[in-house]
Amino acid sequence: MSCSYQYETAPVVENRETLPGYRRIAAAARPGQFVMLRGWEDQRDPILPRPFDIAAADPAAGTVMVIVKTAGRGTRLLADYAPGTSLLTAGPLGKAIPEPYPDPLGLLVRGVGSAAVTFLARRAAAAGGRVIAVLSASTSSRLVGKEELEESGAELHTATDDGSEGFHGNGTELLDSIMRGTALSAVYTCGSKRFARHVRSLDEAGRCAGFIFLEGYMACGRGECHGCAVRRRDDSGYALVCRDGPVFHVSEVEIE
Ligand SMILES: Cc1cc2nc3c(=O)[nH]c(=O)nc-3n(C[C@H](O)[C@H](O)[C@H](O)COP(=O)(O)OP(=O)(O)OC[C@H]3O[C@@H](n4cnc5c(N)ncnc54)[C@H](O)[C@@H]3O)c2cc1C
Ligand code: FES
Repeated sequence: MSCSYQYETAPVVENRETLPGYRRIAAAARPGQFVMLRGWEDQRDPILPRPFDIAAADPAAGTVMVIVKTAGRGTRLLADYAPGTSLLTAGPLGKAIPEPYPDPLGLLVRGVGSAAVTFLARRAAAAGGRVIAVLSASTSSRLVGKEELEESGAELHTATDDGSEGFHGNGTELLDSIMRGTALSAVYTCGSKRFARHVRSLDEAGRCAGFIFLEGYMACGRGECHGCAVRRRDDSGYALVCRDGPVFHVSEVEIE
């Protein structure tokens, strides 16, 4: 396998849930795109960089924000980096969501899936569109990205499985009740296969166009290793999440 990474070094300027990127990436970044990050250049474990959605980009400040959920060794290392640490950052990668953005735009996300849509919410709202976001989690403390979605200009609705905040129940039920009063042009979803199947059913019923952010395993992030292949639903072969996505129309790819 040959992978031609083109990394830029980027200092960590702040580390809450956020990590910064690089001026060029910040200027080029568009909603739907992601970056590959690693800070462990002297280490062989883990050997590969890790992909993260661009949650926000500020070209003037030259920063990119990512929201990282600790999953394993790579994300644990990233979470521990102090401001001033240099990261290797490649991006922006993947296809940007085409403009103009759908209006009204619906977002249905669970957990750290919110990271995928925050940038889209900001840009769509800044362009004057109405954005309605449903953020769900098992419990209130797991409503990741709530602050960022609130700041984005979206109308934010929360749902928790245990009723500790917002609607008590499923994010899909909350979306359905919103859609009884408001017709949405499109719904973008991330973070739950159940949500993806629901958005597909809405799309198939002609209620809105449905799109999914896929988060498959990645090695190169730029179409060279074919490690992120997903089956196309029309039996025409495979799509690469990093090159053809990570955002797909819900009818385009299998939701495993
Ligand atoms: C396009 C894209 C965008 C992403 N955006 C974000 C983001 O904004 N924020 C965020 O927190 N995470 C995001 N992820 C997921 C993130 O890349 C993984 O959580 C990370 O690579 C895990 O690395 P690790 O070394 O910490 O864990 P590992 O040790 O590699 O894995 C820890 C555990 O997570 C599982 N796992 C690892 N990667 C994935 C994956 N891609 N899908 C499902 N299970 C996985 C492994 O099976 C293992 O059980 C994104 C992934 C993709 C492909
Ligand atoms: S991650 Fe290598 S082709 Fe997509």
